[in-house]
Order: sequence, then structure tokens, then C-alpha cells
Amino acid sequence: MRPLQQSEQSVTSVLIWDLPLRLFHWAMVLVVCVAAVTGYLFEDWWLDVHVWAGYALTALLLFRLIWGFVGSYYSRFNSFPLSIGGVRTHLFDLLRGRSDPKEGHTPVGAWMIVLLLTTLIGLVVSGFVVWGGQENNGPLASVISYGVGKGVEDVHEIFANILMGLIGVHLAGVLVETVIFKHDLIRAMLTGEKQVVPSGKSTAGLKHSVIGIVLFTVIAFGLTYWINSASRANEVAALDQIYKQACGECHMAYHPSLRTQSAWDQLMQGLEDHYGEDASLSDEVAQTVRTYLKDNNALNFDTEAAHKIGRINTPSLRITDTRFWQKKHDDFKDADFRHPAVGSKINCIACHKDAETGRFDDASIKLPKGIKYD
Ligand code: HEC
Ligand code: HEC
Repeated sequence: MRPLQQSEQSVTSVLIWDLPLRLFHWAMVLVVCVAAVTGYLFEDWWLDVHVWAGYALTALLLFRLIWGFVGSYYSRFNSFPLSIGGVRTHLFDLLRGRSDPKEGHTPVGAWMIVLLLTTLIGLVVSGFVVWGGQENNGPLASVISYGVGKGVEDVHEIFANILMGLIGVHLAGVLVETVIFKHDLIRAMLTGEKQVVPSGKSTAGLKHSVIGIVLFTVIAFGLTYWINSASRANEVAALDQIYKQACGECHMAYHPSLRTQSAWDQLMQGLEDHYGEDASLSDEVAQTVRTYLKDNNALNFDTEAAHKIGRINTPSLRITDTRFWQKKHDDFKDADFRHPAVGSKINCIACHKDAETGRFDDASIKLPKGIKYD
């Protein structure tokens, strides 16, 4: 038995982590789990859930950044022990098997939080760019081009991988502190309280709970407002009615962005023998259709489908002969396309509820009952 040190006699329970900080922490755990599972494991059509998690994460991060200046003492960034000397001492202590209980963060713990927050910021910012550029969705859709969004996708994935690594280290650190040094950090993050010799620095209290909850509510509303108003700019025009009547008789009317103008011209020239059918039109209608197809052809659209399918010409003029189309649909068997609810692979709208808009959003993929996809 080691003799009681003098300080241990005055150890009491002190409220260190204010309520908003704890709510932030556990909300973050939940949201990051949802984002990670939908991002790494699920099919693309879970993307809208992934994006909602990203929006929630954005609100949480904005809150945390502001809270770092207006929260209670130990939530504020200027209370973080970030000096290199402190980190060195702390690491040497750890190696010697010592870790004194700290009221706030340990130096290594504080750096961990800085790294986690920085990575999360990179993750949500790159997420907005990919969502806006590659998927042509969300508040940045009208400002980010497809190419930029596509390029940033790799950056987004790198941030995600870094985050997974950091979370691993963070959990290992908490485990070491809890199991080896018997500092119950998890309980502290639940109740906010730690058993320490009070230094009198902590200012956490009811006032902060109220301010924090009001602040988060304001951020959540503000962000929702921005996302809704900025996203409204990407609404799409309905298909031209004359075109829809003329070309939607035997199969769904394809969005003009699925082919280039030269492919459409070629197709329009061969309507008398259109895949074995006579699809010819009166001169007047043909002229309207030609103009409409030209104005909205793939080169005038910035969607993924326009880039990956529309701009790729095939000798057969078929959408379904492009490599991207085949790659995206190679998990289906012929029998799936022959299913009564689909009929044929050219019936895009059976599975893509937004096919007529040319968007082909992941979130709009709804497979008819009875079709399996794995
Ligand atoms: C009389 C019926 C008919 C009309 C009208 C018609 N098509 Fe078709 N279309 C077909 C058939 C049949 C196919 C081949 C279907 C298949 O292979 O399963 C086809 C295929 C296509 C394809 C290739 C789809 C693929 O496999 O990727 C395109 C593009 C297309 N049509 C565009 C048009 C356009 C544009 C118009 C209007 C000018 C039009 N079609 C009008 C019958 C028609
Ligand atoms: C039987 C259902 C089905 C039919 C019919 C179908 N698709 Fe798809 N399509 C899917 C599924 C499922 C995916 C998702 C594949 C993946 O992400 O791995 C997909 C993916 C896509 C994508 C990529 C979306 C993205 O953001 O990753 C495009 C573009 C697309 N389809 C276009 C078409 C077009 C054009 C047609 C019609 C010529 C069509 N599809 C017909 C089921 C279908």
C-alpha cells in the first residue's frame, strides 16, 4: 500500500465538461457511425442518408468551433495544453507508466482533438464539393463543376481514411487511460464530472447548458435554411412535351443529355429504320425534336450521366453500349431486365425514378420488388 498523498485527501467531484460539449461528443459518435457505415459499406443509393449525416456533422462542427470560444473553460480552445514541451513531458510520463489525473485534456488528448476536428472539417468540406460537383446536388451544385467534384472524391476518401485511423488511436488512448491508469474518461464524458483536486478553473454550469442549446438550434436552422435555399437552384426542367410524345411511344423518352448532338443527328437521320422499327416523324415534329435534342445534348449538361454516358459515342448509338452503363449494371442478369416490372434494360425509369430528368441520382434508384441486386 502506498501512503496517501496529501493532495488525494481533497479530491472531489468537479464538473469539467459542460452539457453542450457532452451532447456534441455523443451526437458526433452517432453521426460519424452513420456516415462511415453508409459511406464504406452500403450501395450508392444510400447516399442521401450519408449526405444527411454529413449535414448533421456540419452543424455539429460549426457548433464546436464556436463553442471553442464561448463555451465553459475546458471547452475553450485557449485552455488546450498544446505546448510541445507539455506533450513531451506527458509522453515521457506515459512511458514511465505514469499519467496524473488532469482536470481538462491531457496534452496528447488535446492534440488528438485538434487533429480530429481538422480532419472532420476537411471531410465535410470535400463532401460538399463532391456532392455538388459529381452528383450535381446540394448547395454547391451550381458552383462546382462535375470535373472538380470528381477530382475531390479521392480527397474526401483520404480524409475519411485518416479519420478512421485517428478514431482508432483516440479509442486506444481512452482504453489505456481507463484500463491502465484508471481514469474513467468515458464516465466523465457522460456525467461531465471528474474526481480531481479542484483548481477552481472550471466554469461549466447551467448558464452554458442554456447558451449551448440555443446556439446549436440557431446553427441547425441557419444551415438548413442555406442548404434548402441554395439547393433549390438545381431543379430540372421537365421533358419537352412534343419530344416526349414523339419519342416516348415505344420506350421511355430518354433525356437529351444521354447522347451528344452528333449521335442524336445520326439517330434522327435513320428513323425509318430505327432498331428495326419505323419511327419516322413529320418534318415539323422532327425539326422541333432535333432542336430540343441539340439544345439539351450531353455537352450542355454537367451531370455524371452526361459525362460518363452521354458524351461517349458508340457505333450503335445505344446508351446501353457505353462502358460506364455496362459496368454499373453488370450485376444484373438478363432475367432481371426481363422481369415484368422492367421489361428491358432500356427501360431506365423502372429502376431510376428520376430517369426522365437525366439526373440518375443514387438516391432515386428504387428497384422493383423481386429484383435482387448484390
Ligand atoms: C416505333 C417505336 C419507336 C419509336 C417511336 C422510337 N423508338 Fe427508340 N427504340 C425503339 C426500339 C425497338 C429500340 C431498341 C430497343 C431494344 O433494343 O430493346 C429503340 C432504341 C432506342 C435507343 C437506344 C437505347 C439503348 O439501348 O441504349 C435510343 C437512344 C432511342 N431509341 C431513341 C429514340 C428517339 C430519340 C426517338 C424519337 C425520335 C425514338 N427512339 C422513337 C423503338 C422506337
Ligand atoms: C433493373 C434496374 C435498372 C435499370 C433498368 C437501369 N438501371 Fe441504371 N442503375 C441501376 C442500379 C441498381 C444502379 C447502381 C449501381 C451501382 O451503383 O453499383 C444503377 C446505376 C446507374 C447509373 C450510375 C448512377 C451513379 O450515380 O452511380 C447511371 C448513370 C444509370 N444507372 C443509368 C441508367 C440508364 C441510362 C438506364 C436505361 C438505359 C438504366 N440505368 C437502367 C439499376 C437499373
